[in-house]
Amino acid sequence: MPTLFDPYTLKGSTLRNRIAVGPMCQYQAQDGMPNDWHGVHYASLARGGAGLVTLEATAVSPEGRITPHCLGLWNDEQAQAYAPIVASIRKTGATPGIQIAHAGRKASANVPWEGDDHIAPSDPRGWQPIAPSAVAFGANLPRVPHEMTLEDIERVKNDFVAAAVRARDAGFEWLMLHFAHGYLAQSFWSTHSNKRTDRYGGSAENRGRFLLETLAAVRAVWPEDRPLSARFGVIEFDGNDEQTLEESITLVRKMKEHGLDFLDVSMGFSTPDATIPWGAGFMTPVAHKVRQEAGLPVTTSWYISEGRQADALIRNEIVDVATIGRPLLANPHWPHEAARILHAKNATTILPPSYAWWLARYQ
Ligand SMILES: Cc1cc2nc3c(=O)[nH]c(=O)nc-3n(C[C@H](O)[C@H](O)[C@H](O)COP(=O)(O)O)c2cc1C
Repeated sequence: MPTLFDPYTLKGSTLRNRIAVGPMCQYQAQDGMPNDWHGVHYASLARGGAGLVTLEATAVSPEGRITPHCLGLWNDEQAQAYAPIVASIRKTGATPGIQIAHAGRKASANVPWEGDDHIAPSDPRGWQPIAPSAVAFGANLPRVPHEMTLEDIERVKNDFVAAAVRARDAGFEWLMLHFAHGYLAQSFWSTHSNKRTDRYGGSAENRGRFLLETLAAVRAVWPEDRPLSARFGVIEFDGNDEQTLEESITLVRKMKEHGLDFLDVSMGFSTPDATIPWGAGFMTPVAHKVRQEAGLPVTTSWYISEGRQADALIRNEIVDVATIGRPLLANPHWPHEAARILHAKNATTILPPSYAWWLARYQ
């Protein structure tokens, strides 16, 4: 029976335990460039003992940023600036990963603590968002995106490939495609946002085409021995959940055929009218169903906040890796504390020796 603190091997990559740091936007970049903040933030998360540290949604193009302060990976100067972050994550024994993303119709927004809404079209800090159809998200994000042409679709797929090449060359070991949360790929999949009548819209097969083509193109450049994962919103909680989940699982099976190694099961966030059943571990039954029916290793996040809760998910083979978000912002040493509570035999070895030697004599 696996436990939370057993190593996890996928392809040529071994995580020191089954705790992943969820990608979490910091909105602290200028022109997509990582800076000292990202160095401090990611090194501290890695030092806390997680197995996998996945960098936040990193835009494949300037237009693909959520806000003007999102990270980017659309030029070589940015790519080089990730090298010290990769090195500091590795130094702690954690594995570096990165999520690459295009925000679609949710792009050109203010950072959460400055409104979390669309930047006014007249404001020079903003830009014109693009999406499968000219349909706004609504609520705080009312801006109507431009409908993508077939040339736009090819360009964005190529942007994902170029970002994957830069991530590969910067030394990231896991690559996560952002196919969730109402951003561009999710909005191709969702009927809330995709009203196209060409081969990228309509049937589930057509709505999944952008995701599968992007995945296949990235797989062609992403090394075979490094895990390729996706975070995908398999359910919307909009009342049509049974059908959406069945169609999503069918698409995940196809993603597996196209080279996906691992799935981070999440929600669609494609409509402001969803009724989400927030609560401890509420996505875990959904993740387990996807794991069983698609035959792919999975993780999920959302209110997995206790070490025992995470360990039970691994022991019962509900998920393969537990992804933790906000609890790690509150306490980057959450993995170390969980190891102590669970009496994991490697509770101190997940810390650097210059901490562990002393702490072993302090408890
Ligand atoms: C500050 C913050 C930023 C986030 N940014 C991203 C992101 O860049 N990409 C993503 O897929 N999810 C993002 N999320 C979602 C988290 O990865 C995670 O799924 C979510 O917080 C639920 O896990 P938790 O309940 O442990 O926090 C973000 C969440 C937070 C709190």
